Order: sequence, then C-alpha cells, then structure tokens
Amino acid sequence: MTNRTLYIVVCGAPLASRTADGVQAARANGWDPYVIPTDAAAPWLVDQLDGAPVITGNRTPDQPKRTPPADAVAVVPMTFNTLNAWANGNAYSYPLTTLCASLGARIPTITVPFAKHDLAGHPAWLASLAVLRYAGIKVLDPHDGSTSKVEPVASGTGDQLSAQFRWEWIFANLDRGQEA
Ligand SMILES: Cc1cc2nc3c(=O)[nH]c(=O)nc-3n(C[C@H](O)[C@H](O)[C@H](O)COP(=O)(O)O)c2cc1C
Repeated sequence: MTNRTLYIVVCGAPLASRTADGVQAARANGWDPYVIPTDAAAPWLVDQLDGAPVITGNRTPDQPKRTPPADAVAVVPMTFNTLNAWANGNAYSYPLTTLCASLGARIPTITVPFAKHDLAGHPAWLASLAVLRYAGIKVLDPHDGSTSKVEPVASGTGDQLSAQFRWEWIFANLDRGQEA
C-alpha cells in the first residue's frame, strides 16, 4: 500500500525541537512526511530530519512542484503569529500559503497551538481559534492531546512540555478524522 502524504508545518516555538520525532512517528503510522518550517522555526531544527524533505521558501516559476498533494496536514507547533495569519487568510510565506490553500481545499488538518499566557490573552487568540475550528481544523492541546480545549503554556515550561509531547496524539486523531 502506498503511504499517504503528510505536510508537517513547523513554527517558531520550543516544540519545533521535536520535529525529528514527528518524522519518525509519521513513517511508523504509514505517512510520508514533508517538513515545511517557517523561518522562525530554523533555530530549533536539527540539520537532518531523518532524511525527510524540508521545503523552504517559494519555488521559482520554472521549478517543478516539490511535494505531492497532501492527504493531511499537521501544524506542530503553531505559534500565535501563524495562528492569526492563517485564520485571517494571510499567505505571505510558503508555510502560510500552504496552510491557507490546505484549509481552502478542506484537507484534514490538525494543529497544536503553543503560546504563553501573555500572547494567548490577546483577543485575537480566541477569535482565530474559533475561525479555524469553524473551518474544520482539529485543535489539539500540547499538554495532554485533548481536542476539546487548549491551554496556554505556562512561562518557563516550554522545553519540559515539548519533551512530554506525544506525537501519537497527532496520528490517533488524523486516523480518526479520516474514518469519520
Ligand atoms: C526562544 C523563543 C521562544 C518562543 N516561543 C514562542 C512560543 O512558545 N509561542 C509563540 O507563539 N511564539 C514564540 N516565540 C516567538 C515566535 O518565534 C515569533 O513570534 C515568530 O515571529 C513566529 O514566527 P512563525 O509564526 O512564522 O513561526 C518564541 C521566540 C523565541 C526566540
């Protein structure tokens, strides 16, 4: 059986340091992962993500497409910045263009918002989450994988929370979504 294609969009927050684990978990669950990092994610990424293709920047008009069409998208982690840009339909970078197009095409998508209380206290946080949920995006809490609520990250706990994050939460929900 051919593997399904998964885009892993990675934003600039501590949980980005677990991307290599996401690549391995994706393969173990029958997905071919393509990593699409924002510029801000770069400091958290290791050089070799287990050989997964890492797609950065826009292709030139004469370049062929660099990825097959996605069967699903995982945004892990999703920053406050990307959350609001995506919900507003801003497509000013390759990751955001990918996210806006995937949402428009209703490709099954799951996202893990990762922001401290100060950013999450901004009213745009709740408004953008509501927009994404309304559009069918599954929102997963980084603390326990719950899809019914999402808690902000307590200051100073980002690295610890990232270490405890389980990528299996993502794949359990993606498979559930596809059976529905
Ligand atoms: C050490 C460090 C930790 C950060 N942690 C977070 C975070 O947990 N959540 C968040 O939304 N932004 C965090 N930021 C800020 C984002 O990286 C910043 O807003 C960036 O512009 C996001 O860009 P992106 O959405 O394109 O990835 C952090 C920045 C640094 C330098």
